[in-house]
Amino acid sequence: ETETNLYYTTYRDIHYKLKPRKKFSHKGTFGHTLLLCGGFGKMGAAVLAARACLRSGVGLLTLQVPSAGYTVLQTAVPEAMTLADKSRKHLSELPQDINKYNAIGVGPGLGTERITKTAIGQLLATSSHPLIIDADAINLIGSSDKLKAQLPKNRVIFTPHPKEFERLVGKSNNDYDRLRDMLEFCAEYGCYVVLKGSNTAIGTPEGKLYFNSTGNAGMATGGTGDVLTGIITALVAQHYTLEDACLLGVYVHGLAGDLASSKVGDIAMTASDVIDHLPQAFLHLQ
Ligand code: APR
Ligand code: MG
Repeated sequence: ETETNLYYTTYRDIHYKLKPRKKFSHKGTFGHTLLLCGGFGKMGAAVLAARACLRSGVGLLTLQVPSAGYTVLQTAVPEAMTLADKSRKHLSELPQDINKYNAIGVGPGLGTERITKTAIGQLLATSSHPLIIDADAINLIGSSDKLKAQLPKNRVIFTPHPKEFERLVGKSNNDYDRLRDMLEFCAEYGCYVVLKGSNTAIGTPEGKLYFNSTGNAGMATGGTGDVLTGIITALVAQHYTLEDACLLGVYVHGLAGDLASSKVGDIAMTASDVIDHLPQAFLHLQ
């Protein structure tokens, strides 16, 4: 008989995964993330990812943004440390000692410039900690067999929406084939894939497939994907396993969206409303 590896994650499966905080914790206990986000005219993606990361419990956060975003980020996210890329408009380099950060989120707002593609190649080659890869970083890797071949095993989480998924994994004929293709991709590259949609699906390298139970159509608005990247990166930095960071991150993201919807409705909801309801979402799980 086929071994069922299909799970529908509800509150019961998730809430016990949340780790309580010990009294004598300090900033270092909760990790130090690096976010490589933002591009000319899309610094908002970096702001959203950064705010979501901080609201998800990370100890320290550093962002590297194109220098046009240097003041933007320091104004919008005072809790984060900001490094300016030598390029004004697009990410073109990595910060020093990339491996002092114990989780790196990359992609929101980046754009797909050549210089950014080169920086992504360096990231894949020189990093040794988990990578949460989203948006244009997915598009850049999906369009390059060379970058795909450089993907490290057992420390990458991809968070594509369906279009980005297609660029990364290829076209599928239907939803069923898409999920099977996703699991094959996860097994081949030893990575996790969070396929975002109305019921976000999470694939693991061991072939497990989880369907999330939270979230609503109010979240179909620009920036909510950037928020999820910030959340998952923060959880990985706090030493959750990659699988739990995906399950808990997606669940809490959708729960915050549901709480936001109950307050502002599905039409008026923005990505910032999702962030604003993360505190309540985490409290709901404690
Ligand atoms: N029900 C539940 N959740 C939803 C729904 C829905 N009907 N629609 C969207 N979501 C959630 C997804 O699960 C995902 O977590 O909202 C989020 C959307 O993520 P992205 O598609 O990455 O959106 P984002 O990138 O923030 O949007 C900006 O930029 O990436 C491009 O073209 C893309 O429209 C997108 C835009
Ligand atoms: Mg997105």
